[in-house]
Amino acid sequence: MTDLDQLKTDALTRIENAPDAAALEALRIEFLGKQGSISGLMKTLGKMTPEERQVQGPLLNGLRSETADAIAARKAVLENAELEARLATESLDLTLPAHESPKGSVHPVSQVMDELAEIFADLGFSVATGPEIEDDWHNFTALNMAETHPARAMHDTFYFPDVDSDGRRMLLRTHTSPVQIRSMVKQGAPIRIIAPGRVYRSDSDATHTPMFHQVEGLVIDKDIHLGHLKWTLETFLKAFFERDDIVLRLRPSYFPFTEPSVEVDVGWQDVKGRRVLGGDGDAPGHGWMELLGSGMVNARVIEFAGLDPEEWQGFAFGVGVDRLAMLKYGMDDLRAFFDGDQRWLDHYGFSPFDQPTLSAGVGAKA
Ligand code: DAH
Repeated sequence: MTDLDQLKTDALTRIENAPDAAALEALRIEFLGKQGSISGLMKTLGKMTPEERQVQGPLLNGLRSETADAIAARKAVLENAELEARLATESLDLTLPAHESPKGSVHPVSQVMDELAEIFADLGFSVATGPEIEDDWHNFTALNMAETHPARAMHDTFYFPDVDSDGRRMLLRTHTSPVQIRSMVKQGAPIRIIAPGRVYRSDSDATHTPMFHQVEGLVIDKDIHLGHLKWTLETFLKAFFERDDIVLRLRPSYFPFTEPSVEVDVGWQDVKGRRVLGGDGDAPGHGWMELLGSGMVNARVIEFAGLDPEEWQGFAFGVGVDRLAMLKYGMDDLRAFFDGDQRWLDHYGFSPFDQPTLSAGVGAKA
C-alpha cells in the first residue's frame, strides 16, 4: 500500500517536472512501457488470490490511468509552451517593402477571369462553377445533343474508361455549357451567372491547345429577349476593352442548346479604319472577328434542367477566355500561355497589387 502511494507520488512529481517531450517520453516508457514498472505491477495481478486481486486491482488500475492522464496533461503543457516560444521568436515585418522581395505575377488568364467577374458582378451576375470531369448527360444530352447528334463529333472529346450510372463514359468537359444545366438544376430560376473555367478538346496548334478556358454566361428569367442579350454583350465588351466605340455584329448561327443562335463578331477597326483591337483581324469577313457564341436558351434545355419553358426563358453565351486575353493584351501564340516560361510571365503577367476594379478600370496596368 505505502509502496504504491510512494510510487504514485514519485511518478506524478517526475512527470510534472519533465523538462521536455523527450524526457516525458522516457518517463512514459519507464512507467507504462512493456517493461515499465507499473506494467510490471499489473502483471502480478494474475498471480494473486481472488481476494487480493479484488483489493489490488482497482488500486493498480487507478495508478495506471492517473499516470497516463498526467503524461497527457504534461504533454499538452509542453506543446503549448513550444508553440508560444516559437511565436515569440518568429516575426513578420509587415512594413518591409514588398516590391523589393522576389515576386510572382498574375497570369493573363487569371487576370482576365478577375476582370470578367468584376464586370459581370456589376451587372448582378454571380460566379458559378462545375466539375471538369463531367458526365455525358450534363456535357451533351441535357444541352440538346442526343447520342447521335452530329455536333458531338465537333467536340473532339477526351473520354475516360470509367462509366457513369447510365453506362456512359465519363469525359473531360468540352465546354463550360454544362454549368448552365448544373446551375438551373441546383438553384432553379431566376438565374444570372457566369461560369469561367478550364475545358478540354483533343486539338493542338498555334490557336488551339488541348486545355483552354471559356466563360459561360446564363440569364434565366421572365420575358428575357434577344435585346437583353445584345445589350449585355455590348456592355460587357465595352467595359472589357475599355472603349466606347466597340461595335458588334450579330450573325445567325446554329448551336443545339440555343434557338435562335447568334454568333457575335467584334469590329477591330474604328470609324476611320484604324486598328483598335489586336488578334487575327483580317480573317473571314474584312474588319470583323468572330468572338463568341450565344443565343436564346433552347426550350428543350430549360426542360432538361427541370424548369418550365412556358414560364422561364433566357439567353446564354460562351466565349474563349484565352482569346479575350490575346485580343486585349496582344499575344499571338496561345501555346505560350501554358509553357510556364518565366520570361513570358515577366512580360505579360500582372502585378498582384493591381486588382481589377470597375472604379479604377478593369484593364490593369501590366
Ligand atoms: N459551348 C459552345 C462551344 O464551346 C459555345 C457556346 C455557344 C456557348 C453558344 C453558349 C452559347 O452558351 O449560347 O463551342
